Amino acid sequence: MIGKLNHIAIAVPDLETATATYRDTLGAAVSMPLDLAEHGVTTVFVDLPNTRIELLHPLGESSPIQSFLERHPDGGIHHMCFEVDDIIVARDQLISEGARVLGNGEPRIGAHGKPVLFLHPKDFFGSLIEIEQV
Ligand code: CO
Repeated sequence: MIGKLNHIAIAVPDLETATATYRDTLGAAVSMPLDLAEHGVTTVFVDLPNTRIELLHPLGESSPIQSFLERHPDGGIHHMCFEVDDIIVARDQLISEGARVLGNGEPRIGAHGKPVLFLHPKDFFGSLIEIEQV
């Protein structure tokens, strides 16, 4: 069901420092910061030949990243995103296999303008998984 790794998202306490580290220390191509108010994050995309990294920093009062950073003050891997062909088919198959879908179970439009869903980390060995229809 799952296809390519679309991105790995890393929550960072300092977006400027993290961007400079990926750009200067690791020598990667990085985007300008992008505010995604409806998701409560500011994000920087790091483009790699085979996937991308998304640096996430809290934006606003009730950012979902804030509590993660309180538990992981140095930052850490927040989620990974796999591509699927049809998000409704994928969701229904996952639910029938016993996986829990977060929220109300209906896809939301994600950071790339495509429908996404998140899967409960307890069902996937402690890793928050995003699926994105591409
Ligand atoms: Co994501």
